[in-house]
Amino acid sequence: MPRLRKRRDEHEVADTAAAASHGDDDPSRRDFINIAAAAAAAGGVAAVAWPLIDQMNPSGDTLALSSIEFDLSKVQLGQQVEVKWRSKPVFVRYRTPKEISEAVGADNAGLRDPATDASRHKPGKPQWLVLIGVCTHLGCIPNFGQGPYGGWLCPCHGSVYDTSGRIRAGPAPLNLAVPDYSFESDTKIKIG
Ligand code: FES
Repeated sequence: MPRLRKRRDEHEVADTAAAASHGDDDPSRRDFINIAAAAAAAGGVAAVAWPLIDQMNPSGDTLALSSIEFDLSKVQLGQQVEVKWRSKPVFVRYRTPKEISEAVGADNAGLRDPATDASRHKPGKPQWLVLIGVCTHLGCIPNFGQGPYGGWLCPCHGSVYDTSGRIRAGPAPLNLAVPDYSFESDTKIKIG
């Protein structure tokens, strides 16, 4: 037994000497040292990168604003309310029957950015139009109730949108965008 112990001690001493030496010729040992060094370096990178990544995570406030709820009972027939969502204006419009019928009537009017009125509101809810209130030309905020189509007119360069928010004239290339939203109840929508 003492002899066995002596051999083990000799082996450990030889190992330690090899580790201390830079001339280690054992490929498996070199691999281990390289892997250990790489892992240590990766740990260093992770330690440096984490605060940066953490800073890029949205704060609680931002997360809270990534979706908002809106109570439709605040809006009267024929009225539009503008809410802020992700720093953008969103138009929530309670359309009159006239606005709806004009919008549906223009479904096949050779639209620049073709879309039926039905595709721009939730099924069975044609009275509620929810739009990002940003002109698709250069980003101004259009005004409702102006222009020849009874919808929105952009004050910057004269783009005209109809009562479905579809582009009908002027330089804007696209319809006013419909944000991602859903009905939580008959009187409440969640945007985002
Ligand atoms: Fe609206 Fe130019 S930004 S027409």
